[in-house]
Amino acid sequence: MDSAPLHLLANMQPSGVHQAAWRTPGANRRSFVDLDYYLELARLAERGGLDALFFADFAALQPESGRQPRWTMDPTLLLSAIAATTEHIGLVASISTTLAEPYHVARVVATLDHLSRGRAGWNVVTSFDPRSAHNFGLDQLPEKEARYRRAGEFVEVVDALWSSWEEGALALDAEAGTYLDLDRVKAVDHVGEFFRVAGPLQVPTPPQGRPVVFQAGASGPGRDLAARTADGVFAAQLAPESARRYRDDLRARASELGRAPEEIRFFPGVVVVAGETRAEALAKRAALDDLVGSADARLINLAHFLDLDPRSLRLDASLPPEAWESSSHGAEGFRHSVLSFFEDAGRTVGDFLREGSLGHRTLLGDPRSIADDFEEWHVTGAADGFVLMFDAQPAGLRDFVDLVVPELRRRGLVRTGYAEETLAQRLRLPRAGASAARETVGAGVAR
Ligand SMILES: Cc1cc2nc3c(=O)[nH]c(=O)nc-3n(C[C@H](O)[C@H](O)[C@H](O)COP(=O)(O)O)c2cc1C
Repeated sequence: MDSAPLHLLANMQPSGVHQAAWRTPGANRRSFVDLDYYLELARLAERGGLDALFFADFAALQPESGRQPRWTMDPTLLLSAIAATTEHIGLVASISTTLAEPYHVARVVATLDHLSRGRAGWNVVTSFDPRSAHNFGLDQLPEKEARYRRAGEFVEVVDALWSSWEEGALALDAEAGTYLDLDRVKAVDHVGEFFRVAGPLQVPTPPQGRPVVFQAGASGPGRDLAARTADGVFAAQLAPESARRYRDDLRARASELGRAPEEIRFFPGVVVVAGETRAEALAKRAALDDLVGSADARLINLAHFLDLDPRSLRLDASLPPEAWESSSHGAEGFRHSVLSFFEDAGRTVGDFLREGSLGHRTLLGDPRSIADDFEEWHVTGAADGFVLMFDAQPAGLRDFVDLVVPELRRRGLVRTGYAEETLAQRLRLPRAGASAARETVGAGVAR
């Protein structure tokens, strides 16, 4: 089967989500700056029939970076190198609408879409880390509401730029000497609250028409932006019931705007630790836990995402009361998911560090139990697929591809090959798609 109902994306961590990943014996300690590491992950993902590679990005050195490599390299540049050596896998980069400019983003993502022949995606993030503001000439990030207003206008401008070349614009008429029919290339002339952009784009219409757009904001304005503009939503969710409510809500918001609800694909994140048996999976996690000393980067990370002082967290207690006070600035998705874990009385910070990763759940077990879980989330409408994370890479992704993918394929849940050309087609998104793009680029373009 070439296409299958469950979509899987691999979250490309610089070494793995576990803080000890880079410290394991034999690990490539420089994996985070080593192209070969990323290429190995990409090849594994293609072998496993995954839909896309997904790069998160936070444009600042992270507080836990003293203990573990966090987001370092530029996702779009990395993905263009990966595009050159892969054939099928989708390539999704996070780029901030608060820190970047729409013309630049329209151009780099369109370029990536051409280089990869229709496999590019853009994760629209609004940034919530104050450190990133200081790297871009801002004293602080704008309030969330303003960030989302800017994001809405940003995506509108990018969409206009991507559509600024009409069909047939690239004439490539060697006899007449007409390379581009300038009458068919239209200015954008956008003047809005945040941006003034003349256009047109200097890059032909991307092969997908519109590269695939992802979003991860979970607040009201975040969901509205997703309902209006996103093809896929990446979410932090610990339980199927709340994931279902979130997915239903997004689909309802999209319907109100005249979109078909199934146009939005919903992807909760999940950390997968797979073994031949549950005992083997537990042993893999324990081996990593054993490498962690007393200074725990996960604790610092948790405090950072909840905007708390790490010293206020105790491993044998629940969260301190201030954690429950509303935060309008941070990431609602992560915050809700983390707090939902502590709604069960008696659960401690130590329990969370063992079971949850940044608000994403950890699924630890043998291939059948992992496939059962994916199938249950899928058939009960809690997920259209998952963004996969692993304690340590490449080992975790290799285990997933070798152990879990065969079981998912047996159940007809995951593809065995790639029939469709573009990422949008693979995700079964409504698009003019590749045929329109071929027209725009013109048959005469040398490949
Ligand atoms: C699963 C998930 C992944 C995210 N990935 C990124 C990222 O890579 N870079 C970033 O700057 N923000 C990221 N965010 C943050 C969101 O883009 C958004 O800025 C933040 O959640 C605040 O908006 P909200 O309150 O609407 O959720 C992510 C959020 C979630 C829940």
